[in-house]
Amino acid sequence: MRLVELGAEDVLAKRRAELEVLWQAVWPKTTDQLYAILPRHARRKGFLFLALEEEADLVGFAYGYVGGEGEAWHRRIAAAMTEEQRARWLQPGELEFVELGVHPACRRRGLGTWLNDELLARAGRPTAVLATEVQNEPAKALYGARGWKVIVPEIVIGRPYTVMGWERGVASPQ
Ligand SMILES: CC(C)(COP(=O)(O)OP(=O)(O)OC[C@H]1O[C@@H](n2cnc3c(N)ncnc32)[C@H](O)[C@@H]1OP(=O)(O)O)[C@@H](O)C(=O)NCCC(=O)NCCS
Repeated sequence: MRLVELGAEDVLAKRRAELEVLWQAVWPKTTDQLYAILPRHARRKGFLFLALEEEADLVGFAYGYVGGEGEAWHRRIAAAMTEEQRARWLQPGELEFVELGVHPACRRRGLGTWLNDELLARAGRPTAVLATEVQNEPAKALYGARGWKVIVPEIVIGRPYTVMGWERGVASPQ
């Protein structure tokens, strides 16, 4: 198993077909994000995309970028926070932790945890923020075990999401 960093050109062109196969295995019916949203995210400041390769296959990935007030998602989660929460979690240089996915055949082997920890470590940002579906117990268990805290228990962005935050030095990955 190898953990590699993929650049914008890799995810949008060179390795797009492989990523598509993995993405569809992780989220069978939701490829909008892959086709419409990833190209926008790949051009953002601090874009960092990690992938796990097992022999010739991609079996997991995690990515994020540096958040900013100009973005719709950032504005929405900011609006759901108190002023104190915004000052703590959305400080300049905050990482928007966008996605984490592991191929169903490779789960419960610590790969999601590895990707989470490496993305946070390599991004080197003071805080990170994510939104996961309220009912996504596997993801919430993983994040909780790696030091993420619930900031907003429920916010509806199409579907109900929980917003979580991570702070460097407070509960850094082992
Ligand atoms: C969430 C996900 C990334 C976890 O990947 P993984 O490689 O299985 O995670 P790990 O093996 O590192 O699991 C770490 C811990 O998370 C928790 N966890 C993971 N899967 C779980 C499940 N199905 N049910 C309950 N807890 C679970 C456990 O506490 C686990 O520790 P344990 O195995 O020692 O009990 C994976 O299930 C996935 O790709 N899901 C679909 C995509 C998704 O929901 N991504 C999150 C979007 S925000």
